[in-house]
Amino acid sequence: MSRDQLLEMTRSLIEHGRANTMELAEAVVSIPASSYTDPDLYELEKEKIFKRLPLMLAPSCELPEPGSYKAMDVAGVPVLLTRQKDGSVAAFLNMCTHRGNPVAQGHGTASRFMCGYHGWTFKSDGSLMGVASPGDFGAIDKAAHCLKRFPSLERAGLIWVTLDLNSRLDIADYLCGYDALLEHFGFKDWYLFDSRQIKGPNWKTAYDGYLDFYHLPVLHAATFGPDFFNRANYFSWGPHQRLGSPSTTAQKTGSDEVVDLASMPEADWPIDALLQGVWTIYPHISIASFYGGGGRGALISQLLPGETVGESVTTQFYVMEFEPTDDAVRQGAREQFDFLKVVVEQEDYTTGKRQHEALQSGMMDSVLFGRNEGGGQVFHQWTRRLVEASDDELLDIFARQSIAEAAE
Ligand code: FES
Ligand SMILES: [Fe+2]
Repeated sequence: MSRDQLLEMTRSLIEHGRANTMELAEAVVSIPASSYTDPDLYELEKEKIFKRLPLMLAPSCELPEPGSYKAMDVAGVPVLLTRQKDGSVAAFLNMCTHRGNPVAQGHGTASRFMCGYHGWTFKSDGSLMGVASPGDFGAIDKAAHCLKRFPSLERAGLIWVTLDLNSRLDIADYLCGYDALLEHFGFKDWYLFDSRQIKGPNWKTAYDGYLDFYHLPVLHAATFGPDFFNRANYFSWGPHQRLGSPSTTAQKTGSDEVVDLASMPEADWPIDALLQGVWTIYPHISIASFYGGGGRGALISQLLPGETVGESVTTQFYVMEFEPTDDAVRQGAREQFDFLKVVVEQEDYTTGKRQHEALQSGMMDSVLFGRNEGGGQVFHQWTRRLVEASDDELLDIFARQSIAEAAE
């Protein structure tokens, strides 16, 4: 069923490629420049978007085995992800139930976590194992002092967490069926080659760039080249959007070779041709495929709000279909990953920071998204809608989305 959707999108991309057309949005849309710079709106977005919606916090291969863990900060919330003995993933508030000190830092493998302040210990399922000097401390109910657990869901080799301990929003509903498409990457069996963090501009300024092929031949003229394709068709599942190039050709699995899809039987279309382009997961993920050194890889970019309205932090995960076993593939992947740092840090984010500073002058009331930039239009419309939605409305929006999705 989801493969049929991939085929359908590919047919449409080939048709548009053949006709030298693209799907255009209804109209040019303007949005207030203050939506990028208003610090009050930014605080609201952290509350209503980042602390209320499911976020993709780690690819499964970052927590490859029972005992794997990762501590991270998400919009000021300390989070601990652990892989349990049974292979499932759990997400906790990374705060000791004694006095709130984070119980874990960084990432690694551990069967238990000892808080570095007074020595209370917790198991990787969050339960409180031991209170230091229990006789002196006094009696407490250990079962009532486990690490607080966030709702989480592992699907398509990706891990979602909702940073609201009392969330009623079903994570599967939130995904609107998009996870079934993402399953086709097969990420659950992939390998994490490396990851790094890059500082960027306002999260929406940065995210606009992931939803836009329009800028590729201009901003990335020195890296991707001045003839790079600048058109994208957009496909959406709720707020989640995939960008595909309207084209009759696609890149072949694990190489730079280009295949002519239009002249091939559909049954022979390679899976990565069906997955070409950029897959975004609202509100903060972008996934794009690459072929460094002949190994099939993907860059998963995870964008999180920074300390101020003008800052964000992006974690780039370079994941590979197979762990490289020879130096040439390893070297190729390294070069690909380093190249993507230059593209994003020196081109996208340097420009985003300049753009943000200029917008902060307050001298411009609004900015424009063209008919060829439907992805940005949809992103900003959803963001506004979700910031304004009450908790009950939020449940309603995604329950209806997933019913509509099931009916298709
Ligand atoms: S804050 Fe963790 S043991 Fe005291
Ligand atoms: Fe870019």
